[in-house]
Amino acid sequence: METELLTGKIAIEKGAKLIQQGNIVVFPTETVYGLGANAFDSNAVNKIFIAKGRPNDNPLIVHISSKDQISDLVSNISEAAQKVIDEFMPGPITVIMEKSQKVPNEVTAGLQTVGIRMPVHPVAQEFIKACNTPIAAPSANTSTKISPTKAIHVYEDMKGKVPLIIEGGDCQVGIESTIIDMSTEHPTILRPGAITEEMLAKVLGSVVTFKGKVIVAKAPGMKYKHYAPNCPMVVADSIESMISEYDKKLNDNAKPILICKSCHKNLILDRRYIDVGNTEDEVLRNIYSALHEGEKLSNYIICEDFGNEGKYASVMNRLNKSSGGIRV
Ligand code: TXA
Ligand code: MG
Repeated sequence: METELLTGKIAIEKGAKLIQQGNIVVFPTETVYGLGANAFDSNAVNKIFIAKGRPNDNPLIVHISSKDQISDLVSNISEAAQKVIDEFMPGPITVIMEKSQKVPNEVTAGLQTVGIRMPVHPVAQEFIKACNTPIAAPSANTSTKISPTKAIHVYEDMKGKVPLIIEGGDCQVGIESTIIDMSTEHPTILRPGAITEEMLAKVLGSVVTFKGKVIVAKAPGMKYKHYAPNCPMVVADSIESMISEYDKKLNDNAKPILICKSCHKNLILDRRYIDVGNTEDEVLRNIYSALHEGEKLSNYIICEDFGNEGKYASVMNRLNKSSGGIRV
């Protein structure tokens, strides 16, 4: 299959046509690029699992362009869920609610709940609107690999497996949406993201972040290997250990690279490094791109520990998975 990369009105029109014909299409969102199909068409949804090599027991989230579409997808919106929708949608959040009969089991992997997300990215909104149906979509990467924040990341990973990539620039948030389960008595964050626990607690009173080990799937995706570069990667306890690990690897004839904030420049000297900026938002926006670059330029990635304050908690959630929890 040939993979086209298009932008603008032509891309939206072609993308919507492909979706209506039961095909899959890559589109940009503010978090990461998504690989979409008509959420009501199980055959089309199956093509997503095949293209990604994704296990069938890992459900997809459903993307909408208007809040009016929610009532078709869920059987009940609690008062608390409505508050989250009012406050944070459109934006980088996915709200889990009880699903309606209309949502096929292929989308939810047999669960009785469904994740709903309304992206704020104008191209995502235009595309979903043009499709005239909700769009089921995971991140547009091969299963286990790093999520894409640029169209070129998708192209390099998925070319030949998808007919069209709608190009919409670099993703401005940079990591996947916060997932909050509103289908249970106590709202639970299943995946941290740019909408933090503090922000949700302000609206809901109290929220907990799920920290347990996933055996029976809660967010089924959490039990799989994730966000893994093609080479070994570690997280460093401190800037000093980051630098000494680099020097050690260099002496072992490896080709290491550092990923860290710009403020450490003067300690790094002439060592090779990828700069992810200095603020929370910059680090979120740049981290996946840095991992993509790191796996190309080196064979050993050493990443700074950004700590767990605010949005950094969501970055470290991903990096702990990328590194398999290995620290130096
Ligand atoms: O920002 C995002 O959320 C991106 C963009 C494309 O919208 N999408 C995304 O999808 O990250 P994906 O499939 O890569 O991650 C969705 C996660 C998976 O771990 C899945 O297991 C979980 O959401 N999930 C989906 N439906 C669920 C449900 N009903 N209950 C619990 N977890 C669910
Ligand atoms: Mg993903």
